[in-house]
Amino acid sequence: MLKNKKIILGITGGIAAYKCIYLLRLLVTEGAVVKVIMTPNATNFVSPLVLSTLSKNAVGIHLIENNSWENHIHLAHWADLFIVAPLTCNTLSKMAQGSCDNLLLATFLSIKCPVVVAPAMDEDMWFNDAVQQNFKLIKERQVLVIPVNVGELASGIYGHGRLAEPEQILSYIKNKFFRTTEFLNKKILITCGPTKEKIDPVRYISNYSSGKMGFALAESFYEKGADVFLISGTNLLNLKYNDIHFTYTESAEDMFLKCKSLAKEMDYLILSAAVADYKPTEIATQKMKKDSTDIHIQLTKTQDILLYLGQHKLEHQTLIGFALETNNGFDNATKKLKNKNLDYIILNEISNQNQCFQSDENEVTMISKNFETQTYPKQSKKELAHKITLYLAHKISHKL
Ligand code: CTP
Repeated sequence: MLKNKKIILGITGGIAAYKCIYLLRLLVTEGAVVKVIMTPNATNFVSPLVLSTLSKNAVGIHLIENNSWENHIHLAHWADLFIVAPLTCNTLSKMAQGSCDNLLLATFLSIKCPVVVAPAMDEDMWFNDAVQQNFKLIKERQVLVIPVNVGELASGIYGHGRLAEPEQILSYIKNKFFRTTEFLNKKILITCGPTKEKIDPVRYISNYSSGKMGFALAESFYEKGADVFLISGTNLLNLKYNDIHFTYTESAEDMFLKCKSLAKEMDYLILSAAVADYKPTEIATQKMKKDSTDIHIQLTKTQDILLYLGQHKLEHQTLIGFALETNNGFDNATKKLKNKNLDYIILNEISNQNQCFQSDENEVTMISKNFETQTYPKQSKKELAHKITLYLAHKISHKL
């Protein structure tokens, strides 16, 4: 999403400046071209050498460098986005007043692109009236302020004032500036991850699913403007975006009830969860003790969520299922496509070459209800999600 975006990272002199090394890494890893500007004071906290090495660009510090004074103008015209992190009280106050005694401030005053600041300071300073007035002033001038976190501060006090974590800053700027619009105003429901069916208070039936494919799809749709509802089974993954509506469910029944309650509002429903097909007919209320004989657990069929959604599909809805197969992949997948009234099915074939569970990679074939196929060779689940969402976006834009 940030590929080739031109970003200035402004760093001011506070202890949280060390976190900007990681923020810089994240931006560069996302494909952004980053130029760092530091206030002279910031160089007491982090080394310009680290920042120039990671950004592969010279770090600007002084208004006059290499016999040139107009760097700030070039930078201000070059950037797509200016982030100041951490923002200290001192630089905040100078930004509010329009002071211009270093390169960072001069660039700020000349800037043509949006400006985002991520403050970091002690709690008393954060709540000080003058500081809050300065925030009000810069916000009135369209500067976006990322809220501080609450937590342990460098002074040892616990409270407001921690710099937002680099991942939060990254997610904030992606949300605000770089989401695309292919799925704008579309609501998308995605299920993912394994379900768990209780046997007794300490045991359950589940499967090896990691939920990674569903998370990747949710994030990819979100990046393309969709309003995403992720109904997740039990996994340990973290979402990159706070604005994805996230519901944690445990059993097939929980997942079904949540899907049923949301389904009517949705435009796309994509069921990637590995749902238990059977659950124990009775859940023991006490831990089952072992004795000398074998035990037999009777299982009852769970609700097939995808089948239900296919039977209740609305005219405008697109319903997509997954088929997890170890043999006769195409035949089994197309049977599911028809029986469950789907628009597409994504065939996941498990073989020695492709162990999709838990892996960060997968290879799949997408089959449409007209039996058009699109094969995606082995690649990361993130790339796969990006390609699947682009394929669907193409279908919408051409009304296919
Ligand atoms: N699915 C579901 N609810 C279930 C079982 C499956 O919504 N109780 C969905 C899965 O999310 C997936 C699709 O149905 O999108 C196919 O799941 P899969 O496990 O491949 O097949 P099943 O329909 O369960 O059939 P089988 O296990 O016999 O292959």
